[in-house]
Amino acid sequence: HETGSLSIVVLGASGDLAKKKTFPALFHLYRQGFLPPDEVHIFGYARTKISDDELRSRLRGYLVPAKGASPQHQEDVEKFLQLIKYVSGSYDSEDGFRLLDKEISKHEYLKNSVEGLSRRLFYLALPPSVYPSVCKMIKTYCMNKSDLGGWTRVVVEKPFGRDLDSAEELSTEIGKLFEEPQIYRIDHYLGKELVQNLLVLRFANRFFLPLWNRDNIDNVQIVFREDFGTEGRGGYFDQYGIIRDIIQNHLLQVLCLVAMEKPVSLRPEHIRDEKVKVLESVLPIRDDEVVLGQYQGYKDDPTVPDESNTPTFATVILRIHNERWEGVPFILKAGKALNSRKAEIRVQFKDVPGDIFKCKRQGRNEFVIRLQPSEAIYMKLTVKQPGLEMSTVQSELDLSYGQRYQGVTIPEAYERLILDTIRGDQQHFVRRDELKASWKIFTPLLHRIDEGELKPSPYKPGSRGPAEADELLEKAGYVQTHGY
Ligand code: BG6
Repeated sequence: HETGSLSIVVLGASGDLAKKKTFPALFHLYRQGFLPPDEVHIFGYARTKISDDELRSRLRGYLVPAKGASPQHQEDVEKFLQLIKYVSGSYDSEDGFRLLDKEISKHEYLKNSVEGLSRRLFYLALPPSVYPSVCKMIKTYCMNKSDLGGWTRVVVEKPFGRDLDSAEELSTEIGKLFEEPQIYRIDHYLGKELVQNLLVLRFANRFFLPLWNRDNIDNVQIVFREDFGTEGRGGYFDQYGIIRDIIQNHLLQVLCLVAMEKPVSLRPEHIRDEKVKVLESVLPIRDDEVVLGQYQGYKDDPTVPDESNTPTFATVILRIHNERWEGVPFILKAGKALNSRKAEIRVQFKDVPGDIFKCKRQGRNEFVIRLQPSEAIYMKLTVKQPGLEMSTVQSELDLSYGQRYQGVTIPEAYERLILDTIRGDQQHFVRRDELKASWKIFTPLLHRIDEGELKPSPYKPGSRGPAEADELLEKAGYVQTHGY
């Protein structure tokens, strides 16, 4: 454990992300003792001119107790809020960042009565358009200056650019100012419990080793559904669309962990090397393996232009050209305003050869990892229907976390990832070459959508999405067992 002062600066402190995710995650870390008050100071920075107390009262409403929280909770909230100071300034203001540095240094001095390091963490809860100027300001005015050592790290959020060129441009700009080990590109899906479990499941279980390949697996689905639309975020969303918002980052990261080879070790570089290899093996996306949709009513949002061509739903098949996966479709599907909220991975196995039970009619073996809600891992398999008849039925081996791990709190993705940043562990962050390879896969498709060459089909809010998506799934070989 490093000691010395730790200054956490949340830039964009009055924005949605900061209020809903960053500060609550910091609060949870604080409650668990990961942010000791004698070392830590938290700063909010944003353009709005408000006082420390105004920021605190804006945040208070977001630090709501979890069910069953102790009465101690409210007391902790107040103590935590006292650690937060606010500095206002614009994102390219020299004065603003000078002032920020002064504030940080002042508190570092106070907290550094014990000799130690000066650690400075800058969390950019901001749109990427201001990343270069903010990074430049941090580099010029706010770096750790302690003779005793320490570090300065920056955390950036997606979307990192709009396509391959803009992402590379952004990476180059930031790369001129910070070294790769100082840059933490967050993809919060990598902080989810069951996403982190993928490595363990795949490489610590003998079961899966011989089965995890094209000889046994027929198709893989990685699905994200939300049962609400883009309410309140239409303006942002319309510039990006579902592929940039969910598929190119969250679902593709999950795909990497499902498909990659075993890394040499658990060292972040070894893991990320394997992920990059998967991404670089993905073949160009075929037009007949894409379905786009836009829910009816999306354009009623006054911040969305009437002629918007932006997809709020997409199914895209990726094909990995390597020895393990040749011929196995990886079906990535994401949609807003659908019939349910769910994120899951479904690995569907091939039919049993020489089947004597007619299993196919009931469904194939499937290995399902439900990321949310209600984390679960289950295996669908065919068993004998209990009773006198010799008939078969589909059943499940079910590891539902709610039952198996009763009373265990599963940490929020952001909580875990911020802690990793403090600890200097980049395993669950996206490396520059990974980012580049992900944009390379989707850029041609995105450009065609942007140019209006591919148009989304309308679908009803609350439905499964456009019917063509189910047809594509079937064409790809997926055999549906029961409606989900
Ligand atoms: C964000 C997207 O990255 O992820 C949102 O911008 C989406 O559109 C959100 O709603 C989903 O995150 P989670 O953790 O709720 O699945």
